[in-house]
Amino acid sequence: MQTLDVIVHAISLASATSRSYELRAVDGALPPFDAGAHIDVHLGPSLVRQYSLCNSPRESGRYLICVRREDAGRGGSRTLHRDITVGRRLRISPPRNHFPLVTAQQHVLVAGGIGITPLLSMAEALAARGATFVLHHYTSSTEESPLLERLQVSAFAERTTVHHSDQGDTIRTGLPTELLTPAPDTAVYVCGPDGFMTHVVAETTAAGWQPGQIHTERFAPKARTAAGDEIATESTAEFSAEFTVRIASTGIGYPVPADRTIADVLTANGVEVELSCEQGICGACLTPVLAGEPDHRDEIQTPDERAADNQITICCSRARTPELLLGL
Ligand code: FES
Repeated sequence: MQTLDVIVHAISLASATSRSYELRAVDGALPPFDAGAHIDVHLGPSLVRQYSLCNSPRESGRYLICVRREDAGRGGSRTLHRDITVGRRLRISPPRNHFPLVTAQQHVLVAGGIGITPLLSMAEALAARGATFVLHHYTSSTEESPLLERLQVSAFAERTTVHHSDQGDTIRTGLPTELLTPAPDTAVYVCGPDGFMTHVVAETTAAGWQPGQIHTERFAPKARTAAGDEIATESTAEFSAEFTVRIASTGIGYPVPADRTIADVLTANGVEVELSCEQGICGACLTPVLAGEPDHRDEIQTPDERAADNQITICCSRARTPELLLGL
């Protein structure tokens, strides 16, 4: 897996519980990125976390990430807040983007909490190209609004509305005006905690927006039962049965038991695969599918990409057919 060495150039407080980290290349230049991209940050031998880049894609010399400390999280944000200081070297991946801006006449950006990070980069990009857009940011309070000062002095401050739930203004009291009625040639982007996103997607869909107009990025996979179905949906237990993955380059097939992932099985058999989040949210393990039908359980592919059935996240997805032929 290709990685880059960067140095932590600056750290600043972005809210009561969030910090911004400015990363610069140790040698040479950083690869360019598009709005919506994220990087893997290697924080320890088995501690790799994904963070969206929140600066303008037009800035070529630095990557900016903003991280909220999650005391009940899996340890990445605690490590960053506790151990990472200015001058520290870090290993990161080149930027990847599964949440790109699409071509549309208007854009509506809806962020919950720290979900502002990719949307802020998008707003910078849209403002730079003179596009028509609005940004709504939902947070609990002024103190807990990540990057609020930056939003307030941005070139798009007048197109930004910040909502605070401690003032009774939450997504549950009503969608932003721009989302009450579906508009043609308008793209909606949503990023935030799972419950927030589920609510926004359900309400916009109920309002008549088409699934292809709503673009999302999750920070964690949706809750699933042991069988792999999203909680509160019908059981898909039959899809968790054992199946075989066959490697096109060698012709060798490997059985994947119900309690192991494709990536587990391939790694155990010496097949080299690329992994990062292992939760279906980063796209590092997307692998071509040449035959067979995947049972997609990731959060990064669009409905159209899923329907094409020509790639699979091998860290979490399974098969709907007895065999999958992988382009490895
Ligand atoms: S490793 Fe991140 S989607 Fe599979």
